[in-house]
Amino acid sequence: MTTTSARPTAVPSVEQLPRPKLRTDTDIQGNILAAFNKDFTDFRYLHFPDAATGRGWLSAILNTVATTVETEDFNEQFSLARRAFGRDPLMTTVRCGVSLTFDGLITVAAKPDQVGKDLAAFPAFTAGAAARAADLGDTGDSDPKTWLFGAGTGDQVVHAVLIVAADTEELLTEKLKNLDAVEHAHRIGRVHVDRGRTLTGALRGHEHFGYKDGISQPGVKDFHREDPDRKGIRDNRAGTEMIEPGEFVFGHKSEAGDRAAPAWMKNGSLQVVRRLRQDVAGWNRAVSDGVKEFTGTMDATRLGSCLVGRLKDGTPLAPARDTVTGLGSDRNDFDYLNDPAGRHTPWVAHIRRTHPRAFAGVNDHKPRSHRLMRRGIPYGPEFKGGADDRKDRGLMFVCYGTSLEQQFELLQQHWADNPDFTPGDPKAGKTTPNGLDKVVGLAGPASIGLEDGTHGTVDMKRFVRTTGALYAFTPSISTLRLLAEGRNLPNKPVGS
Ligand code: HEM
Repeated sequence: MTTTSARPTAVPSVEQLPRPKLRTDTDIQGNILAAFNKDFTDFRYLHFPDAATGRGWLSAILNTVATTVETEDFNEQFSLARRAFGRDPLMTTVRCGVSLTFDGLITVAAKPDQVGKDLAAFPAFTAGAAARAADLGDTGDSDPKTWLFGAGTGDQVVHAVLIVAADTEELLTEKLKNLDAVEHAHRIGRVHVDRGRTLTGALRGHEHFGYKDGISQPGVKDFHREDPDRKGIRDNRAGTEMIEPGEFVFGHKSEAGDRAAPAWMKNGSLQVVRRLRQDVAGWNRAVSDGVKEFTGTMDATRLGSCLVGRLKDGTPLAPARDTVTGLGSDRNDFDYLNDPAGRHTPWVAHIRRTHPRAFAGVNDHKPRSHRLMRRGIPYGPEFKGGADDRKDRGLMFVCYGTSLEQQFELLQQHWADNPDFTPGDPKAGKTTPNGLDKVVGLAGPASIGLEDGTHGTVDMKRFVRTTGALYAFTPSISTLRLLAEGRNLPNKPVGS
């Protein structure tokens, strides 16, 4: 749990305020709007030998799938207890979530042809992550041929992704034992397993390169409360814009009215899972070496923070909009309007390329339609420093949204991997060359020109490679039930 609260004590406590309508939802799975936020999270990639085994397995796990209300109730109680006692309370639980790939849906659906037709408007999902690899930079050592899951054939085709998340290793192990028995009883095949684990000690809440993660997330209308004093901003989260819920779950209002879907997709979401292996020793070396290509005041700490957009402790490079709410490691109150040329947060910075904030509209007319709900967690042992130990470590990148094309794929292909994308004012930045996202983008140069005159170009290879990837659909609880029972799926269009 990494959320903190800065609410002054005079403000009514959250229990006294009316709850937004999606806050009490019992149909949307947990982890989409309400994060599981668990330190021990396993990912199981499963194969159904046939429709009957798949449906049997779904029926058996249905009761164990977490809802939004129970997930957020726990999170809220946890935060309240932490605020009251000043430390993490001894509250523990385990949460499960299930998603189905296109192949999985077709396997268990009563009318597969109908489902295929219903999904005609979702080409990235039906094609799958491996088919989209070339456009997303998954080439060379990230080619699907090298993946641990997501590109297999025959009994290696993934039909379901099961996320099992717990506050302790013991709770997780206990739950996994039950799930093993269910898988065995229903003859379910297991393609691969990943073990997501929050890093510990000084790296707690950080990813393997050492930067604090999980700070900036969209606020969601009808789920989060709005700040009574700042319209459009999430209460108690300065800088967090409130986005329409239809951007993350089908069947609700979206930002541009472009997210209609068949009724069976209502309250469901599209999930991206990417197993991103990080070469930490290589990254550290490249950042140190890159310093030599700069004139002015540059060192490895500063260059690394320029490539991410935050210091390792999470403090943004961006000058704050408000010096009370915008400074400090958890702070997110900035929009780049005061930095159009990227002299504080360079245009190449990972957080600026993947969320250009006020400049998201420079390149299109739907600036608020490209947000992701990120739910990633590191995997693998911490890097202890020094020479490359060749251990497998990285990020289990997970995100949710209602358009793979407008959200994840647009960020990866058209923003991170595109040297011509300008996450600032093109006129203001004429003297600042652009570049590629060095955290998740392709190999190639990233140019930086800072306020104090320091400038240079760092030309790094890639230190993040894709070792598995999937697109899946996370159905509502009611649609999971229909699938488990082999019943027809209602397909009248809903949402906007
Ligand atoms: C190993 C791979 C990755 C690493 C090490 C990484 C690291 C980080 C870090 C340190 C942050 C800052 C924390 C925060 O603002 O919440 C961040 C934010 C973010 N990342 Fe990544 N990331 C990775 C993969 C990705 C991918 C694949 C995408 C999407 C294509 C992505 C999209 C984002 C977004 C949207 C933000 C929030 C930016 C903001 O709202 O200001 N990341 N990432």
